[in-house]
Amino acid sequence: MKSAVALLFRSIFEALGNLTWYCRNWQLFKVGLLTLAHYFLLNPYRVCREYMVYFSENQVQKIYGETAFATLATLSTLAGLSSKDTVYDLGCGRGLGVFWWASVIGCKSVGIDLVPTFIRQANAIKKQAGIQHVEFMHHSIFETDLSDATFIYLYGTAFSEHAVHRLVEQFRALPAGVLIASISYPLSAYAQAHEYTLLHEVEVGFLWGKTTAYLQRKNG
Ligand SMILES: C[S@@+](CC[C@H](N)C(=O)[O-])C[C@H]1O[C@@H](n2cnc3c(N)ncnc32)[C@H](O)[C@@H]1O
Repeated sequence: MKSAVALLFRSIFEALGNLTWYCRNWQLFKVGLLTLAHYFLLNPYRVCREYMVYFSENQVQKIYGETAFATLATLSTLAGLSSKDTVYDLGCGRGLGVFWWASVIGCKSVGIDLVPTFIRQANAIKKQAGIQHVEFMHHSIFETDLSDATFIYLYGTAFSEHAVHRLVEQFRALPAGVLIASISYPLSAYAQAHEYTLLHEVEVGFLWGKTTAYLQRKNG
């Protein structure tokens, strides 16, 4: 009961926080309205749950959730993102973060997700809201070409150990200097010490509670 009340308060707090971003940016406001309209037809939590039954724990993160815009803002400021950057959201869900980076930072942003419904919906919203510099791709994050990324966002809290090891292996092909934000664990926990430089660790809030976000730079 106590945790249900806490969740309700966190949901209201996060929704109000996001609302302030929607009200400040007309492009994002349009995305918000369209996402809300789509939400009544397709509940993302249910969509993700139903689709993920076809995959093993080692391939996917089955639990859906979204990052608050305030957290994206904190991480983007720490990373010093500008319109020259190219951001990848690995497992972008409905693509709200991808729209946030394109609308607020003004950079190119790419969302990857395994659930075709999310990609179809995000592409429909992109078209309806007339947003440029965003791209949504339907495939596994383990098969994604990240060669033009300057910043990668990984809300992979619920990935299996095996999946994170696989991703870290994939990141070995990235050029030096790429910034990666990970939620709840630093990549150095899965890589060799010299592979990453930890730039910042910061406490951030999610609907399920507080955790640490890590911003690291890939070394050469
Ligand atoms: C926790 S949600 C994060 C959504 C978004 N990144 C955010 O922070 O708001 C995780 C998303 O990753 C997707 N996903 C899980 N495993 C994946 C995989 N192997 N390849 C691509 N997408 C995946 C799920 O479909 C889900 O939409």
